[in-house]
Amino acid sequence: MAQEQVVTPWEVSGSGAIDYDKLISQFGCEKLEQRLIDRVVKLTGKRAHTFLRRGVFFAHRDFEKVLDSYEKGEKFYLYTGRGPSSEALHLGHLIPFMFTKYLQDAFKVPLVIQLTDDEKCMWKNLSVEETKRLARENAKDIIACGFDISRTFIFSDFQYVGRGFYENMITIAKSVTFNQVKGIFGFDGESHIGKIFFPAVQAAPSFPTSFPHLFGTKSKIKCLIPCAIDQDPYFRMTRDVAPRLGYQKPALIESRFFPALQGESGKMSASDTNSAIYVKDTQKEIKKKIANYALSGGGDTKELQRKNGANLKVDIPFKYLTFFLDDDEELERIRDEYGSGRMLTGEIKNILSDVLWKMVEQHQQARLAVTEEMVDAFMAPREMPFMFEK
Ligand code: TRP
Repeated sequence: MAQEQVVTPWEVSGSGAIDYDKLISQFGCEKLEQRLIDRVVKLTGKRAHTFLRRGVFFAHRDFEKVLDSYEKGEKFYLYTGRGPSSEALHLGHLIPFMFTKYLQDAFKVPLVIQLTDDEKCMWKNLSVEETKRLARENAKDIIACGFDISRTFIFSDFQYVGRGFYENMITIAKSVTFNQVKGIFGFDGESHIGKIFFPAVQAAPSFPTSFPHLFGTKSKIKCLIPCAIDQDPYFRMTRDVAPRLGYQKPALIESRFFPALQGESGKMSASDTNSAIYVKDTQKEIKKKIANYALSGGGDTKELQRKNGANLKVDIPFKYLTFFLDDDEELERIRDEYGSGRMLTGEIKNILSDVLWKMVEQHQQARLAVTEEMVDAFMAPREMPFMFEK
C-alpha cells in the first residue's frame, strides 16, 4: 500500500508527489477557483501574478469574503512570516514573499511579517543569540523583495512580543487544550512545553490588536495570510478560536511546495546544497546545478528525445519555468517544442539557467543595497499613517 502523505509544518513526506487535491479535502480548505482570480484582477486593475495564473497559489480559506468586503471599501491587512533557521534562502523560500509583495502593491494594504526566531530556537536547537542573528539576516533578504516601508512592519518574536501581542497569545493559549494541539500537530507527552505553547505565538499576528501601533486596541480589520500549505494547521487552530475571542477568522491563500531539483517527491534539504538553487548562488553554480542535478523528463539520448519528446509531468526545468517564467506565450512555445522533441534537454536547461540567474542577480543587487538602518526602520514598532494610501 502507498505510504500515507504527511504534511505538517515540520514534515512533508509521502510515497511520491504530493496529492494537492487530497490535501485540500484532508485540511478542509477550498480550491482557488479561476472566478476568484478574475475578481482579483477586476478589483486591483492589475494583471494576475504568475503564481495565480499557474496555480502555484491553489487553495484558500475565506479569500472570497476578503474580496467581498474589499469591494465594499473595507480594508484588510496581510500577515506572513519566516522561521529563521538558516542564512541560506533558496528559491522556494522567496515564493510567499514575492507573492505577498504583489498583493501589497495590488491592494495597497499594510503587511506584518513575523520572524519566528523563538520557533527555530526550539525546533532546531539553536541558541537564542544565533536565531536572533539569523532573523536579522533573513530580514535583509525579505526587504530585498521590494516591500514598501510605509506599509510593512517586520518583527522578530524575541524582540517584539509583549503587551497587546502577549495578551492575545495568552487568550489564545487558554482557549486551546493539550488534546487539541496533539490532534492538530502530533505533539505527545515527550514534547517540551515550549513547542506545545508555540502555536499561540504564530496565531497571535492574525488578530489586529496584536499591533496596537498599527490598528489601535479595538480594530476588527480582516487579516489575510499568504503562506505555503504546510502552515495551514496553525491557522486552522487560529480560526477555531477566533470567534470565541470575538475576533474575525483570518483568511488564507495557500501555495504548493517548490520542488527539489531531484524531482517532485524529493525534499529540498538545507544540508544538501545540490537539491536547491540558493539566492546566494553564482551564475556558474546555477548553471552547474541545473545541468547536473535537475531531474529531466527528456529522452535519454538526443535521438530518443527527438523521437518521443519529453515527459513534462516530471521534468524539473519545465516545472521551474512554470513558476518563474512570466511570459505565457514563451512558456507555451517551450511546452510545444520540448514536449514534442524539437527542443532538447540542454536547450531548456539553458533557458532555465538564464531565467533564474536574472532573478537571482536582481535579488543579490537589491540585498546589497539593504543597510542596517533600513532593517532597523522596517523593524521599528511605529505608526504607519499612509498604510492604506492608494
Ligand atoms: N512557521 C513559519 C516557518 O517556519 C514562519 C511563520 C510564522 C509563518 N508566521 C507565519 C509563515 C505566517 C507563513 C505565515 O517558516
